[in-house]
Amino acid sequence: MKEALALRVAMAAAMLSACVGAAATDLTGRWVARVPNGDGTSRETVFVLNQDGSMLTGSVINPTNEQPIVDGRVEGTNLTFATAPANNLQNRTAYRGELAGEELTITVSRRGRPDQTLTARRGPDSAGRLPPRIAPPALHPVRDNGLARTPPMGWNSWNRFRGEVSDAIVRAIADAMAANGMKDAGYAYVNIDDTWEAGRDASGRILTNRKFPDMKALADYVHSKGLKLGIYSSPGPFTCAGYEGSYGHEEDDARTYAAWGIDYLKYDWCSAARLYADSDMQAVYQKMGDALLATARPIVYSLCQYGRNDVQKWGADVGGNLWRTTGDISDTWESMSRIGFGQGPLAPFATPGHWNDPDMLEIGNGGMSEVEYRTHMSLWALLAAPLLAGNDLRAVQPEILKILTNREVIAIDQDALGRQGRRVKKDGDVEIWVKPLSGGAHAVGLFNRGETTANVTVSCDELQLCGGYTIRDVWAGTDVGKFGASDSTSVPRHGVVLLRVARSGSASGHM
Ligand code: GLA
Repeated sequence: MKEALALRVAMAAAMLSACVGAAATDLTGRWVARVPNGDGTSRETVFVLNQDGSMLTGSVINPTNEQPIVDGRVEGTNLTFATAPANNLQNRTAYRGELAGEELTITVSRRGRPDQTLTARRGPDSAGRLPPRIAPPALHPVRDNGLARTPPMGWNSWNRFRGEVSDAIVRAIADAMAANGMKDAGYAYVNIDDTWEAGRDASGRILTNRKFPDMKALADYVHSKGLKLGIYSSPGPFTCAGYEGSYGHEEDDARTYAAWGIDYLKYDWCSAARLYADSDMQAVYQKMGDALLATARPIVYSLCQYGRNDVQKWGADVGGNLWRTTGDISDTWESMSRIGFGQGPLAPFATPGHWNDPDMLEIGNGGMSEVEYRTHMSLWALLAAPLLAGNDLRAVQPEILKILTNREVIAIDQDALGRQGRRVKKDGDVEIWVKPLSGGAHAVGLFNRGETTANVTVSCDELQLCGGYTIRDVWAGTDVGKFGASDSTSVPRHGVVLLRVARSGSASGHM
């Protein structure tokens, strides 16, 4: 009898716990997952879920965006939903998840990428919430800081090191640049990209994380090598990798950078997109432009908002020395050539002190051939683009170093006239680009974007460079004589022949 009662009690308890279990599948709340950046760092994704029976609504919040949940369903402890950027259903992201105890395991599927599994736990009510929006200031022109009269040259940590960048790496890169000819060739800035930031102290001062124990000491070290130090931030509350941004602390941060001895700031839109429209960009960038000028330290100002909102038309007005014109480059022929050959229409906007920035160099990162890297370097030089190496300069192959430090190519990029080249001819896969240089000289790039060797014929007529010009093949380092009415040259697949064409007798024709 006693046993039967015990059994009934146990069954009732089991039923009760099943009921409680069912109640626990109310997913409503803010669920927080750490998403690995793939480089040892991670950023936060917040799933804001509202469950109503089997219906699930809410949003997914990343550092740089918040997207509404669509097609959300719950069945027992399982859930499925999707997000899609506005007007871009192609890039729909699908999620499926399961609740087990306190943990929500969510698998994320995106087109063309391997599935990613995240573990989310209930977070505080503040998770993923934004600070109040600060109204952007009224527009006014920011005084030119007088810097970057030729396109900035240096190195940036992002392409090769992502979140691995540290004080030790930056010092070693500075050592390498000072010793391996990069500095002598003109590369001056050593730029730390995202992932150096921690939070703020009680007074609002930005703190560095443990990878950068003493930023001032690092700046002193880089300066002792005859180089300059650059840093990175965002006008939003978070950087693109989810670190602390400068939102509401623009003046504090500019002062801190100046006190550390920083010489260059890359300012990346990232989470500002969650608070501001693209049409606010000019005012938001102006704020940091003013703050940098107010420090009285010469700090190059690099805008990074992926070329949105016609930045080339207002980048200089906010005190910008350079502005990114595209999304992120990657170390492939497809990415580099799409970006590089797409820059032509921006040519009129490049002037001394104010440059279009088609993103950092991938030369030496291993995804392209030497021929392709020479094309990359030639194209960036013809575009008067900033030359920011993005490879591991501590262990650089001699052939790569030769590409990065070719003085004659660098001279084309750095020419004092400060004009950006443009395409003058396209014939199938062959493109001819011309950049006017000081002293009446011109740089001419004969590019072959095709898959087989091309025989490129160029006439002095189509370049408007007939009569009394001499030609130098810059990569070969040889003078190739006078310009004939029509000259032919063979250009390898994905390759370039880069010429410097100067008036005969003009000193600038022979370097
Ligand atoms: C954006 C920028 C990159 C790099 C990363 C860092 O994607 O465009 O150049 O700075 O952020 O998170």
